[in-house]
Amino acid sequence: MKAVELKNGVHWVGAIDWAVRDFHGYATPRGTTYNNYLVMDDEITLVDTVKYDFSDITIKNIKSVVDPSRIRNVVINHIENDHATSLDKIMELAPGATIYISEKGRTGLGRFFDTSRWTLKVVKTGDTLSIGKRTLLFVETPMVHWPDSMMTYIKEEKILLSQDGFGQHIASAVRFDDEFVTCESLSELEDAVVDYYANILMPFGQLIKAKAAEIEKLGLEIEMIAPDHGIIWRADPGKVLRMYREMANGKAALSVPIIYDTMWQSTEKMSLPIMQGIKDEGVECKVIKLRASPMSIAIKEFWKSRGCLVGTPTLNNIMYPTVAEFLTHLRGLRPKNRVMGAFGSFGWGGGAVKEAYEEFKRMGLETFEPGLQILFRPSLEDETTCYDFGRAFAKKVKEYHARF
Ligand code: FEO
Repeated sequence: MKAVELKNGVHWVGAIDWAVRDFHGYATPRGTTYNNYLVMDDEITLVDTVKYDFSDITIKNIKSVVDPSRIRNVVINHIENDHATSLDKIMELAPGATIYISEKGRTGLGRFFDTSRWTLKVVKTGDTLSIGKRTLLFVETPMVHWPDSMMTYIKEEKILLSQDGFGQHIASAVRFDDEFVTCESLSELEDAVVDYYANILMPFGQLIKAKAAEIEKLGLEIEMIAPDHGIIWRADPGKVLRMYREMANGKAALSVPIIYDTMWQSTEKMSLPIMQGIKDEGVECKVIKLRASPMSIAIKEFWKSRGCLVGTPTLNNIMYPTVAEFLTHLRGLRPKNRVMGAFGSFGWGGGAVKEAYEEFKRMGLETFEPGLQILFRPSLEDETTCYDFGRAFAKKVKEYHARF
C-alpha cells in the first residue's frame, strides 16, 4: 500500500483491515479501514492516526510522501483506540510536533498515554490553524459520538475530515465513492452507511441535527467528506449528508423485522404465519433469529423499519436471554418513532411477553397490545391466530407510519 492523494497535497495514509469481523462486539462482515490524512504544507500536518496494530502501515504510507520527522502538527479528532493508539509511535518519529485536540480529548488522551512528554493545544469550534497556504478550521462534535469528538475542515480544499461521522465499515481496495459504486454498488455503500448509523449514531439524532445546523451557520462549502472509516465521499458528498438528515429525522421504511429466538422451535413456528400475515397486509417483513445473526444486523434491521416484532420464549418466567440482551442493547441506542409488539410460546407460567412490553415502554416506544402467547406448541388453529396477529400488527404499523 501507499498514500493516496485526495486533492493537491492532501493524502490518505491509513490502513485497510480486511480481517476484522468483530469490532468491539459490532459485526463487520465487510471489514473496515482506519483512515488518516496527511496535509503537505509549510507545516506538515497529520490528522488522526490508526489502530495500534496498523501503526507500521500508516508510518510506511506517510513515508511514501514525506519523512515523518518533518510533521509539525498532529490533529487528534477522536481518542478512541481505533484512531489514536498509534500516536506514541508517530510522536517518536515526530517528537517536536504539536498536538491539536479538544478539551475532552486532552483529558481522555492522558488516560491512554503519558502526555506530559508532548505539547498539546486545546482547540474549540471556530478555532483555526494556519499551516501555510491552507487553514484548518476545527468543529467540535461532542457525543457524535464521544465527548471528545471533533472534525477538521481544510478551508482552501473544501474538505471535511469528518472522523467517525459519515463513515462506514467497509474494507476496499478503492478509496472513493465513485470508484466503489463502479466496482461494488451504490446499494452496498448505502447499506453500510445505515448499518454504521444504526449501531453507532442512533442515540444522537437530535445532536446530529443541531450540529448540522451549526455547521450550516459556519457556511462551510463542502466538496469532499473524508471520514476515518471506509469510503471517501468525493463524487457526491451531498448523498451522505442527505442520508444523515433523513435518518436524524427518524426516516424508516414501511417494513417489520421479526427478531426472535426459540428454545424448542415453538416461538420459531409462530414467526412464520405472523410473517405471512404481515406480508399479506402489504408490509415488507424479514425474520431474524438472534442466535443465528450478529446483534448489529438485528439492530440495523430494526432501525430501517417502522415496526418491529420481538419473539421470545419464556425461560424461568422471564425473557429468553438473547432477546433480553437485544432489548437491553437497543435501549442503550435510545430508539424513537417505532411500533413494537411481542409474541412467544411458554410452558408453565409465562412472563416473557409481559417483560418485553415493559422494556418497550421503558424505551418510550409505541406498542401494539396485547401481545400473543401460545402454550407449548402452536396448533393449526394457533397458526391462524398468529397470522391474524401479524396482519393486525402490520395494520397498526401502516397507521403509525402515515404520521411521518
Ligand atoms: Fe472509529 Fe469512535 O471510533
